[in-house]
Amino acid sequence: MHPWRHDSHGQENPEGAPLVLSVNLAQSRLAIIVDFGREPVVPLAVRFDEYGDIDVLNVMEVARPVPGPGQVLVKVVAAGINPGEASIRKGLLHAVWPATFPSGEGSDLAGVVAEVGPDVTRFGVADEVLGFVHTRGSHAEFVVADVDNLVARPASVRWEVAGSLFVAGTTAYAAVRAVNLVAGDTVVVSGAAGGVGSLAVQLARGRGAKVIGLASEAHHGWLAGHGVVPLVYGEGVAARIRDASGDRVDAFIDTFGGGYVEMAIGLGVAPDRIDTIIDRAAAEKYGTKTDGSAAAATAEVLAKLAGLIAEGSLDVPIAKTYPLTEVRRAYRDLEERHTLGKIVLEP
Ligand SMILES: NC(=O)c1ccc[n+]([C@@H]2O[C@H](COP(=O)([O-])OP(=O)(O)OC[C@H]3O[C@@H](n4cnc5c(N)ncnc54)[C@H](OP(=O)(O)O)[C@@H]3O)[C@@H](O)[C@H]2O)c1
Repeated sequence: MHPWRHDSHGQENPEGAPLVLSVNLAQSRLAIIVDFGREPVVPLAVRFDEYGDIDVLNVMEVARPVPGPGQVLVKVVAAGINPGEASIRKGLLHAVWPATFPSGEGSDLAGVVAEVGPDVTRFGVADEVLGFVHTRGSHAEFVVADVDNLVARPASVRWEVAGSLFVAGTTAYAAVRAVNLVAGDTVVVSGAAGGVGSLAVQLARGRGAKVIGLASEAHHGWLAGHGVVPLVYGEGVAARIRDASGDRVDAFIDTFGGGYVEMAIGLGVAPDRIDTIIDRAAAEKYGTKTDGSAAAATAEVLAKLAGLIAEGSLDVPIAKTYPLTEVRRAYRDLEERHTLGKIVLEP
């Protein structure tokens, strides 16, 4: 971000409307724009120009994107952040999902339609939507989204929840579906309080399963309050699971990696009832499932999840929200790997 430009929350002018100052030195001219309206004059977006740690992330002034056929321009109100984005930024996924620079980031989003592209009838200006983009661009004040990847935001689904539903929600949905739970099954979820885990445990409970959730003690209250049997991970966890399950574990959802697939096999779980969203090597070795976001990344699944939230059957815990300009702090927080639920940017 240019140091003289205030973010869209802006400085307050005497009337209380945001004051946005923009100084464009890149084109060797000084332009000060004072806007007493609500829309940013030059929108901001997260960009990075090379692989690296959080310090490669910058918030830059960018051209306002223009929606094409089948697309709308969304003024983003909330956008979740996810560990996969951190891995892409670090270059760890270069072989599968390379970045081209300058790169934006972000898939999850919720916001208000600001413009519609040619022939778009499903949504109109001022409609409130939630959904996703595959263009790595939702960590921004404005993003162009395909209408097929958006659903209406139910009024009772809070913005930060709507804006962080896509990756975690579809992944949890896919993982729970993959292990074929029926009433009376016992399923173990590793990373039970994380973005994906916190939703997976509830969807598994919704199928009538007994759910054992592995988490640090700080999150046991939340898990117990959602009908989950919480257990601490670490030394002796397999024995604790055997005790808590009466030595019968039917299914295992691994959202953390680092040996849980092997542990599930050791607990006697059939490979086709183990789903790992992170440990592909173990999945290959033992023949387990790997269903994740891609297996359920549709507007239909999102609408279903939003409906569950609206009716009070699914709770998306929000660990923290950050303004877009604090994107580095948001990822530093996420990369500690001890989040309860979701961390969300609010552009
Ligand atoms: N394949 C896909 O489509 C897909 C989609 C989404 C995510 N993912 C991957 O899945 C993983 C989880 O994503 P997320 O968004 O849920 O992450 P997250 O929100 O950062 O959650 C991390 C969780 O891991 C737990 N944890 C930390 N150390 C642990 C340990 N030793 N054993 C068990 N749990 C431990 C933490 O629990 P405590 O705080 O209680 O310690 C925390 O709740 C990431 O690696 C991500 O890249 C894959």
